[in-house]
Amino acid sequence: MLSKQDNELLCRVGRGRPMGELMRQYWMPVVYDWELERDGAPLRVRVLGEDLIAWRDSNGKPGFVVENCPHRGASLFFGRNEEAGLRCVYHGWKFDTSGACVDMPNEPAESDFRTKVQARSYRAAEYGGLVWVYMGERQDAPPEVPRFEWGLVPPAQRQHSHKLVYVCNWLQALEGELDTTHVYFLHSRLNPSLPAKYGTWVDDRAARLSVLNTPGGVLYGGKRVEEDGNTYWRTTQFLFPIYGMFPGGRDDGTVPLSIYVPIDDEHTLHMGVFWHPTRALETGRDPRKGSLPDEPGVLANGVGPMKPHQHGRFFADWWPVVNHENDFLQDAGARKTKSFTGIPGIRLQDSAVIWSMGPIMNRPNEHLGTADAAIIRVRRRLLEATKALRDQGAAPPGVDDASVYTVRSCLTVLPPEANWLEALADWHNARTLEHPNPGFMGRRRILEQAVSHQYASDSRAT
Ligand code: FES
Ligand SMILES: [Fe+2]
Repeated sequence: MLSKQDNELLCRVGRGRPMGELMRQYWMPVVYDWELERDGAPLRVRVLGEDLIAWRDSNGKPGFVVENCPHRGASLFFGRNEEAGLRCVYHGWKFDTSGACVDMPNEPAESDFRTKVQARSYRAAEYGGLVWVYMGERQDAPPEVPRFEWGLVPPAQRQHSHKLVYVCNWLQALEGELDTTHVYFLHSRLNPSLPAKYGTWVDDRAARLSVLNTPGGVLYGGKRVEEDGNTYWRTTQFLFPIYGMFPGGRDDGTVPLSIYVPIDDEHTLHMGVFWHPTRALETGRDPRKGSLPDEPGVLANGVGPMKPHQHGRFFADWWPVVNHENDFLQDAGARKTKSFTGIPGIRLQDSAVIWSMGPIMNRPNEHLGTADAAIIRVRRRLLEATKALRDQGAAPPGVDDASVYTVRSCLTVLPPEANWLEALADWHNARTLEHPNPGFMGRRRILEQAVSHQYASDSRAT
């Protein structure tokens, strides 16, 4: 459990709050590059509690500007995106991507008032198919964007699988990613003789965890012993401050990443990315157009469809159809006969439990066991880094070393005598393109097929 004070410290992300200041040390991924068209419609986004307008100018340069115009506060969402600037529709003031006022047509020509006004804007960068915002103090010389391997490989080797708004705090969403034992309950089928399309199955549902600190966060391995004495390892990376690389990729070495951007204290933007160090993946699927299976109990891929464009709301295209207002389409019949939850999809099952904790989980009331060791460690690291920044001004992990993000998670079988950390070090640190044990899933005897049955490169269990 956490004290009320530490829970508040970890969860609240507004400007001036300790965690809000920690988050502002880092770049935050916000929109897909294709969402921002040159001279196209500006988008409403909210990041770390600040309402921003994301846009792309005539030269292709992306920008993030505080939503309300510095003149008299009209929303720049209605602005005209034209001739390398965003022009407020109220009195025609026009701003470039740096926030400089480049035209003030309602003032006399001889006035120099224009040069005294600045729209508050933040640095933008493009990396790995996403547009990122940096909201920290170092606007003139921001740190490097985290050097994730999926931004280094050719676009054909990465897939942006899903994106949606969660109505809950960012930390409980991230913690779901770091929680290895839920996979064989929440995501399971009712018994092993049922087809894998209804969920996961393993006989040994109590993993033994090894947890250690890394330069960029925390690495942990969950170990299960196979019938033949070999060990089945699922390893996960937490990377500061909002990333979880879980071991749900294919057994060929596809690696998944989950991203949890705090929208504000009670909303989170969740995105999924998959990549392969050498092979092409399925690309080109529109992450807005998910579908749901006809048969209750069968797992959907991803997060299902998105609602129609939500006019007037931030992230207007990313509100899921399956949500707490329809009880995540839980089906009582399927829960009795097919799957543990009756909720139609792994990501939707995750969503249901994460949202059900309330807008901000009340951690003073929880009871953590040994299976929660990774969650405990990640919280400790976040608390330490947040307090070190607040009290000593210490830069948190990864801010000034983008290379700590060039890592992977793993899913593999090792011989009984192998030391997992040594055996997987080259793979974990992206020093090799060779998966330590490629294609092993088909040969495993204790097989939780649902983790591998989800199609080629979509959302899977943590
Ligand atoms: S409020 Fe924007 S130009 Fe006047
Ligand atoms: Fe999960």
